[in-house]
Amino acid sequence: MGDFVTIKEIDEAVDAIHERTKVKPRVGIVLGSGLGDIAEMVEDAEIIPYVEIPHWPRSTVVGHSGRLVMGKLRGVPVAVMQGRAHYYEGYPMDVVTMPIRVLQRLGVETMILTNAAGAVNPDFEPGDVMIITDHISLIGMVGPNPLRGPNIDEFGERFPDMSQPYDRKMIALAQTIAARNGTQIHQGCYICLSGPSFESPADLRFLRVIGADAVGMSTVPEVIVARHGGMRVFAMSGISNKANLDGSVMTTHEEVLAAGKLIVPKLKTIILNVLENMDSST
Ligand code: HPA
Repeated sequence: MGDFVTIKEIDEAVDAIHERTKVKPRVGIVLGSGLGDIAEMVEDAEIIPYVEIPHWPRSTVVGHSGRLVMGKLRGVPVAVMQGRAHYYEGYPMDVVTMPIRVLQRLGVETMILTNAAGAVNPDFEPGDVMIITDHISLIGMVGPNPLRGPNIDEFGERFPDMSQPYDRKMIALAQTIAARNGTQIHQGCYICLSGPSFESPADLRFLRVIGADAVGMSTVPEVIVARHGGMRVFAMSGISNKANLDGSVMTTHEEVLAAGKLIVPKLKTIILNVLENMDSST
């Protein structure tokens, strides 16, 4: 058997974070491509660069700062990941998702994940927000599942349930918040591919047929690991580009980052209100 992330390595990272901050986070937030500015909202922020946390994967992608921002949002202690590692960067899936394990050992019970995604649903436009209600783990289904390798019993069982990966009460709460603010948001199914190449027109037609509304290269492995550990999960996609169904438009990373500017204010509002109300509604 190959080398897999161990609980000892996870706890070495936890210890290093404990040495840097007294914040005991209850909620973990992962910020996707072009969405890092959301971390500006954190009050009394203590910033730990990923390079200073042992075993923590570094993001090599433009638009991912690579910092853990610890502090408070609306009175809730949070750990915000400003940037994440991806499978396409070369990390094994257990390394990609190792930070989720660390956040859980720090005390996080609820994960809020965000990503930039391409629209597969023709009704979606760049700048839109989609609440993820379900996912297709296309990449994990046939091989690189983040739970491959020895099961870490401290977190969960060998064959974890995935019947409701995304917390229904948090979805309903976010929908209510958006309606109250006059922000139109979608709900839908996110599909995770390996990347880094974007999809061909035939890839996209296939993704649509199998039920995807938005496509990206992250989040699902983190959700699987968080649910394995029994955490509550809420996730949103910021739609950065339209699907290239007939090959007439190109997709670029610059476009993905530019759409982030439209999406960040919407996500900030939803995240703040969800944090404020999540415990009274559950
Ligand atoms: N495809 C895959 N991943 C993405 C896209 C896309 O069109 N946009 C942002 N992330």
